[in-house]
Amino acid sequence: MRMHTRVGIIGAGPAGLFLALLLSLEGIDSIVIENRSRAEVESTIRAGVLEQGTVDLMLEMGIGQRMHREGVVHHGIELRFDGCGHRINLYELTNGRAIMIYPQHEVIKDCIAARLQQGGQILFNVQDVQLSAVASDQPIIHFMHEQEQVELHCDFIAGCDGFHGVSRSCIPLSVQHVYSRAYPFGWLGILLQAPPSAKELIYAYHQRGFALVSTRSPEIQRMYIQCDPQDDIANWSDEMIIEELQARLVTDNNWQLRVGPIIQKNIVAMRSFVIEPMQYGRLFLAGDAAHIVPPTGAKGLNLAIADVRHLARALALFYQQQREDLLAAYSATCLQRVWRTEHFSWWMTSMLHRFPDDDPFQQRMQRAQLDYTVNSHAASMSLAENYAGLPFSVQP
Ligand code: FAD
Ligand code: DHB
Repeated sequence: MRMHTRVGIIGAGPAGLFLALLLSLEGIDSIVIENRSRAEVESTIRAGVLEQGTVDLMLEMGIGQRMHREGVVHHGIELRFDGCGHRINLYELTNGRAIMIYPQHEVIKDCIAARLQQGGQILFNVQDVQLSAVASDQPIIHFMHEQEQVELHCDFIAGCDGFHGVSRSCIPLSVQHVYSRAYPFGWLGILLQAPPSAKELIYAYHQRGFALVSTRSPEIQRMYIQCDPQDDIANWSDEMIIEELQARLVTDNNWQLRVGPIIQKNIVAMRSFVIEPMQYGRLFLAGDAAHIVPPTGAKGLNLAIADVRHLARALALFYQQQREDLLAAYSATCLQRVWRTEHFSWWMTSMLHRFPDDDPFQQRMQRAQLDYTVNSHAASMSLAENYAGLPFSVQP
């Protein structure tokens, strides 16, 4: 079967779905293809923190009503070390910016509902996705859908298929540069059935390793502890996880972790990764397909949204005014924010985790950085503006 669309979008994650919705607001048609089922896409537990800019964009796009009702705005975060909590007042330090706690899979549900309500296409459960002629002006996506071989002819292809997708490999080795770093630790994440233990997120540095207290709802909490990235989740009983959280979060003022049954647990490895350029011919990469950050700064989803915001605008100017300059500048434009975010996420990760091979000197460096971050107005402000999210720099 032969199909045609202006923009073929691979991947129904945040990047692909936001791009499809932004393009449709500009009157540009697209088709999204996704290799998982709708149910899987809508139930994968990942991010929880939305930057101010992402929140504002969702409201502008008309997909923010449920987030506005059910999400929770946080005006600060806590950095905890040596048994003592220090609040970073995001709101005051950024002139009124904040973060929203609203889970990624809820964002995804809202995007899919909006897309289908508009009559837009998302093909789930596709298989054997391959790209061809990406350097020409009629690139093609080949895939199987409902036992049929499909050729989707496009003006442009957006590779929004995450870190393990197929798009990135279409950029020839001779033109690509990859920058990456693997960290010697991972995150063990849990969903806990219990009331919130704190009003705001807690990022804790402890001799036993990093811990993070986040939330999902008044009944379900999200928490993470640093662990060996090769560890098997089967080695961690629920009791061990709770004990480790309690040990790492201990304070000198009797703060208590509220506990309950663990209803989900898994381990994710952590890495930093960037491919340059993010574009080749008519193929444009966006989100995790082009870059990965360690999750400590809560940036991955937000960065994916920033990419597609630029891409949608560049494509709109191409179709409406025959301008190619923004498309040509896409990679360079995105990479500015990408590298800023890579630095911030690496910095937060380095400050808050125990490195297996560290020595007393490195630990003193981390302590000095933590002290400075919570005690200096300038340093707190720098953390706050990055954490709440730097404003989008929208090109003319
Ligand atoms: P993805 O979400 O990976 O979407 C890609 C989609 O493409 C998937 O649905 C996939 O099935 C599909 N796909 C893959 N291959 C193919 C193919 N061959 N054909 C068709 N479809 C394909 N970010 C934040 O901003 N804030 C946070 O608080 C935060 N916390 C996190 C916590 C954890 C534990 C983790 C693991 C990540 C966290 N992130 C966070 C990162 C965030 O989840 C990702 O950066 C985000 O999902 C990236 O979106 P994406 O659309 O680029 O890629
Ligand atoms: C969550 C994830 C993060 O990576 C983070 O830094 C804060 C919160 C979360 O899943 O809630």
